[in-house]
Amino acid sequence: MKLLVFGDVYGRVWREVFSANIARLKEKYNPDFTIANGENLTSGRGPIEKHVLEMKAWWVDLLTSGNHIWDNENRLNWYMDREDSILIRPANYYESDFFKVPGSWYKIIEKNWLKLLVINLMSWVFMKDDMYNPFLKVDEILKSLVNEKVNWIIVDFHRETTAEIYAMTNFLDSRVSFVYGTHTHIQTNDDMIFPGWTAIIWDIGMTWPLYSIIWANYELIKNRFLTGMIRGKIDQELNWPALITGVYLEIDDNTGKTTSIEKFREIIK
Ligand SMILES: [Fe+2]
Repeated sequence: MKLLVFGDVYGRVWREVFSANIARLKEKYNPDFTIANGENLTSGRGPIEKHVLEMKAWWVDLLTSGNHIWDNENRLNWYMDREDSILIRPANYYESDFFKVPGSWYKIIEKNWLKLLVINLMSWVFMKDDMYNPFLKVDEILKSLVNEKVNWIIVDFHRETTAEIYAMTNFLDSRVSFVYGTHTHIQTNDDMIFPGWTAIIWDIGMTWPLYSIIWANYELIKNRFLTGMIRGKIDQELNWPALITGVYLEIDDNTGKTTSIEKFREIIK
């Protein structure tokens, strides 16, 4: 199985950069599945249904998310609960009979009778959201799906620290094909396969303006850094060049073992 995985696609302009380049990237890598992170799809503040459907139209099979998933909740919730939703949310919110969190936290997608399970987790270190233990949660999910006979499993771990995702990859080594980090936005140089057969990259990177402050033009946001004042809304700026980063993986169909991982980082002028 060949898999193309992207990090966050950030706001309107960067959705357009993504859409202008995805056909070429798909032709180059010819993936069976394409996955991206959608938590910043709408102006960096969560996704809305319309923009999720745009990504679906651009051949993205599934969108993971993270701490911004609820930013536009009123324009999204009904979509997340739909059977055909391509958007999942972090798995490890606390749920009980008192409150059900909307949306799915994993999804099995299928092509040619082969199944890919995608799980979304969120860290409990340095994130504002008060999450249930992601290690225990992923273990519970994997045990609950043991009869599903999925061919491959990948995990988007939305997190802050190096230690936590390396511990997670050790925890999941030989149980899942790929553990990758999102949320810190800068692609890292540690793509590798662990001693079992699980691939890792600490951060998969993001589709965004190369010299920006996450996505904001420096000239518009510099006063936050020079004075400490946070004022008003920063409009998204089209400041070229753009950067598209991601990872291409090859995974054995029968064993789920990752055989190769290759990160890519393209500057689009
Ligand atoms: Fe995030």
